[in-house]
Amino acid sequence: MEDKYLQPEVPGARDSDEDSDGASIKSTRSCASTTLPQIHENGRRYCSTVYFMPNDETELTRLNITHQIYLILLDGCLTTVPFNPKSTPRILDVGTGPGDWAIEMSAEFPNAEIIASDIGVFDSGLGHLSLPNVDFQLADAQSEWTYHSPFDLVHIRGLSGAFLDWGRIYRQAFAHLKPGGYIEVADSDPAGETISFGENTHSENSCLKEYTSTLREIAKEAGYPRDLEHLQTSALSAAGFVDVRVLERTIPIGLWPEDDQEKTLGKMALIALLEGLEAYALRPLTASGRYTSDEARQLCERVQEEVLGSSGLRITVKIVTGRRPASYAQKRQDVLARAMAKAKVIKEKDGFPGAGGGKRIGIFLEKKRKGRW
Ligand SMILES: C[S@@+](CC[C@H](N)C(=O)[O-])C[C@H]1O[C@@H](n2cnc3c(N)ncnc32)[C@H](O)[C@@H]1O
Repeated sequence: MEDKYLQPEVPGARDSDEDSDGASIKSTRSCASTTLPQIHENGRRYCSTVYFMPNDETELTRLNITHQIYLILLDGCLTTVPFNPKSTPRILDVGTGPGDWAIEMSAEFPNAEIIASDIGVFDSGLGHLSLPNVDFQLADAQSEWTYHSPFDLVHIRGLSGAFLDWGRIYRQAFAHLKPGGYIEVADSDPAGETISFGENTHSENSCLKEYTSTLREIAKEAGYPRDLEHLQTSALSAAGFVDVRVLERTIPIGLWPEDDQEKTLGKMALIALLEGLEAYALRPLTASGRYTSDEARQLCERVQEEVLGSSGLRITVKIVTGRRPASYAQKRQDVLARAMAKAKVIKEKDGFPGAGGGKRIGIFLEKKRKGRW
């Protein structure tokens, strides 16, 4: 693959054996894993001084579970974008994390060419696997994208709170998609008011409410929104995307559902949430100076108790897709291909429009295809 390492998180993080175009995460790490930043803070490990979520083993577990939840929600599918399994799509997974999605996409679409990019690496994530059609790269999506060839799909999942300017991310994605190519953005950040209470719960004085609204406020002050505005259809339309669609699923959190499948989902969502409470909050709460680490942990514990003691809790997951408009030439080709197929069917079925007529239609359509009408 020709695309390479773009912006190193830390100067000097490059593998010195690589050419000037750069190095993938694998080669960077095989050179010296210590060149990637590892920031230890309040008992958690982070890959950057800016991004708020940790990238340690606990977070890896949460991401693995969350990936499985997405799979269940999509009936085992990895994407809502209509790809033919035999197609050869070029795919960019922005903020790939441990790489579960990218790796599974590579197995499902063996002819795909996948770039899985991130600002950091999970120590025991799948990014260390050597696969012919996935290239793990270090890249900050907030910097200028310098990929050499356009993509069929740009996938962004779980990046709420990671970007100062989602509009810029979308404009870059648009510019780096082929005409007709897709963007798919998924999220369910609790700070984005995705959690709803059961009917009998008094949500007004709840710790969860305090937790989520404080996180949202802090994120807003810091300029890295977690309000999920980026999942509004207007956010994608503003960047030029068309056919913007939203898939919204609300899943249970907890063991309270009676239905078996719902119970399984509820159990998984509960584990993911309990694992995530501290990850979502520790750095923002302490870095903002509003809470000490002890106070932040106490808030997380109170929320944990509330979640465990409540029934009817649900979380909404949203997946938004949009398409870069197809070029005029491509649209014309599609219309003509459909017309030719239709003409063929008519000719085969009815012999219409009489001897030589089918041929005349064929010649007419062929001329049209070549632009001579
Ligand atoms: C919550 S994880 C989601 C991982 C993965 N997309 C998934 O769904 O499992 C967010 C990931 O985004 C990465 N990230 C944060 N800011 C980023 C940026 N500016 N550019 C690229 N990746 C970034 C983080 O390092 C982290 O691995």
